[in-house]
Amino acid sequence: MSQRKITVTAALPYANGPVHLGHLAGAYLPADFYVRWRRLRGDDVIFICGSDEHGVPITIRARKEGISPQELVDRNHALIRDTFDRFGISFDHYGRTSDPLHHETASEMFSDLLQKGAFTEEVTEQFYDEEAGQFLADRYIIGTCPVCANPNAYGDQCEKCGSTLSPQELKEPRSALSGNPPVLRPTKNWYLPLDRLQNEFLNQYINSRDNWKTNVLGQCRSWLNEGLRPRAMTRDLDWGVKVPVAGEDGKVLYVWFEAPIGYISITRRLKPANWQEYWTGDAELIHFIGKDNIVFHCIIFPAMLHLYDHGFVVPKQVPANEFLNLEGDKISTSRNWAVWLHEYMDELPGKEDELRYVLGSILPETKDSEFTWKDWQTRINSELVGILGNFVNRVLVLSGKFTDKRVPDMPGFAPESGSPVAEIWKETDQAVLAAWREMNAHIEAFRFRDALAAMMQIARLGNRFLAATEPWKMKDDYRTRAWVLDRGLQICACLQLAAEVFLPATAARLSDQLNYKPDAATRKQYWKNGLEWPLLPAGHELGEAGLLFRQVEDEVVEQQVKKLQSMISTHSAEMPEETAAAFPPALKDTIQYDDFAKLDIRVVKVLTAEAVPKADKLLKLTLDTGMGERTVLSGIAQHFKPEEVAGKTVLWLGNLAPRKMRGIESEGMILMAEDAQGRLHFVQPAGDAEPGSTVS
Ligand code: MF3
Ligand code: ZN
Repeated sequence: MSQRKITVTAALPYANGPVHLGHLAGAYLPADFYVRWRRLRGDDVIFICGSDEHGVPITIRARKEGISPQELVDRNHALIRDTFDRFGISFDHYGRTSDPLHHETASEMFSDLLQKGAFTEEVTEQFYDEEAGQFLADRYIIGTCPVCANPNAYGDQCEKCGSTLSPQELKEPRSALSGNPPVLRPTKNWYLPLDRLQNEFLNQYINSRDNWKTNVLGQCRSWLNEGLRPRAMTRDLDWGVKVPVAGEDGKVLYVWFEAPIGYISITRRLKPANWQEYWTGDAELIHFIGKDNIVFHCIIFPAMLHLYDHGFVVPKQVPANEFLNLEGDKISTSRNWAVWLHEYMDELPGKEDELRYVLGSILPETKDSEFTWKDWQTRINSELVGILGNFVNRVLVLSGKFTDKRVPDMPGFAPESGSPVAEIWKETDQAVLAAWREMNAHIEAFRFRDALAAMMQIARLGNRFLAATEPWKMKDDYRTRAWVLDRGLQICACLQLAAEVFLPATAARLSDQLNYKPDAATRKQYWKNGLEWPLLPAGHELGEAGLLFRQVEDEVVEQQVKKLQSMISTHSAEMPEETAAAFPPALKDTIQYDDFAKLDIRVVKVLTAEAVPKADKLLKLTLDTGMGERTVLSGIAQHFKPEEVAGKTVLWLGNLAPRKMRGIESEGMILMAEDAQGRLHFVQPAGDAEPGSTVS
C-alpha cells in the first residue's frame, strides 16, 4: 500500500523585492518546522514554494528601475531562493511562475474551466492610454483625490489620506505612462461567479472546517456574510500568463488565479512522474500563508479546484498567521521599516538558529506580535545561552571530567529508591516525557510557539535536575554521580532530537558533541510513539564539548536599532516603491513671489565627498560657498560614488535650517533633478559662476 502523500506549501513570495522577518514569521518558518517534523515522523511530505513573478507591482517596479520585468524577477528570484537556502528553509523545490511549465499548467486549467462554462464573460469600461496603446491598471492612473484633493492620488488608493478609491472617482485622471488623460474603452474579461459558488460549494466547505484556526475561519465567515461577488480572472495587461483564447491579445490571467496554480506546477517540476499523487486521492494539502492571503487560499483557490473537477483535493488546513510588527511599528517595505533576511545573515553570520528561535517564540499565531532587537538579545542570552546552551555544556563538561567522556556503564546500579536523588529523577523523568508529548501535540496542532516553549522546558528541567542533585558535590559517591550524569546525557539527546525540528544547525552541533546519530527508524519511533530511555546506550563514547550559543553584546543591538532608524530618516516617504511615479509629476500648489524669495540658492563647489559609516544612502560633502566651508549630508550615495561628486560646481540651498543626522550637522541642501527613471542629476550653472554666486 502506498503511503499517504502530504503537500505542504508556503505562499509564493512576490519577486518584486527581498524577504523580511515578517514574511518568515508569517509563513516560511512555521512551515519549515512543520515539514521537518513530518519528515522525522517518516511521512511522505513535499515542501513546495517558489517566486510569484507576475502582477502589476512588478511591472511598476521594473519601469521605475528602467529594466524589464523579466530582468527584475530574475534578480529577485535568485536573491530570494538563495536567502531561503542559506537560512535553512528546507523546500523540496523552490520554483517560479515564469517557468514555461507553470504557464502551461495555468493555461490548461483556465482553458478547461472556460470550456466547462465555469466563467461568465463581462464587458466593462476600463481606462486606456491611447499614446501608450494599452489599458491601465488602477495603479497606473493618477489624479486628484476626491476626499483630500491630493493631486497625485492613485487609481486604487490615495497615499495621502489613505482612502480606497476606484479610478473613475479620480478628478482629472491622467496616465502614469504618458501623462495624458486616459479614455474609457470597453473590454471583455472572464469572471469567476463566486456568488453562485458560495451557495453551491463554499458555504458548506467553510462551515465544515471545524479544526481550522479561529483567525482564519473568522475572516472566511466575514467574506461569506458579506456575500461573495463575481471576480475577474483576467486582466488587460501584457505581463503574465497570456489568456489562452485566440484573438485576445494583451490579456493575461489574474495573478491570484494563476499564482496558486504555481503550487501544482512546482510539484510537477519536483515530481515529473507522479506529481498527481500529491494532489489527488487521499493526499493532504496544507497551505502556510500570512493573513492577507486568506481569501485567496480559503475561498478562491478551493472554488477553482472544485470547478475544475479533476479529482484534486481542496486545502485541508490553512494555518495562516497574523502580522509581525517591528520595533513598535508596522513593517513597511516602502518606508524601509523592515529587517531584510539577507542582510541579517550578512551582518550576523552563524546566528540563523538564534533568529529561528526568537521568531518561533513570538510567531503571530493568534494575533499580531512584535519583534524588537532588545527582545532578540534577551531571548538569546537568557534562554538559548542561559538555559539550553548552559545545560548541555555543563553535562558534557562534567562527563568529560567524571565519566571518561562516556555514557556510564553500570549494569544494575540505581540510587536507593526513596532517596532524594531517586525522587528528583522520578519527577524529572515524568516531566520530560510529558513535555516531549506536549511538544509533539502542539506541532500537530500548528501551535509552534508552545512547541518551542516545550523544548525549552525540557532544557529547563535538565538544569533543575542538576541544580537539585549537584553531582559535582558527590565526591565519595562516584556511582550516583555517574548515574545522575547519565540522566543528564539522555536529556541532552532528547534535546538533540527536538532541535532537528526547530534549530537545524544546533541539532547538527549537538549531534557532534554527543556523537549521537540515531537512524530514521529510531527517530520515527520516538516521534510517533514517544521517547524510550535510554537514547544513548551504556558505554557510548561522547564527542567534544563546545558552546552552542554565544552571548549577544549590547553594541550589536544598538547597531541594528540605529541602522533601522537611519533607513527611515533618509528614505523619501513620498515615493513608495510599488508605486508608479507619475512623470512628469503634477505642479504643486501655486505660491507667491515672496515665498520663492525666501529661498537662498547659491553656486558652490564640492571640495570633498565621502561615505558616511552605516548610512548607505548618505554622502558627506564639504562645500566652498565663497564665504567659507560648509558641510552637507546629501542622500545621493546610491546614485554617485564620492569621486564622482568631488570637484563639481552645483547649486546649494543655503538657508535651510541645519539638521543633525548620524551625529553630523548638515547645513543646507544640494539641489538635484530627478528623471523619469528616478535617476538623479546635478543642477549646474552653464558657464563659469564662482562659488557664492546667487540664484534667483
Ligand atoms: N505573492 C503573494 C504574496 O506575497 C502570495 C501568493 S501565494 C499564491 O502575498 F498562492 F498565490 F501563490
Ligand atoms: Zn486623499
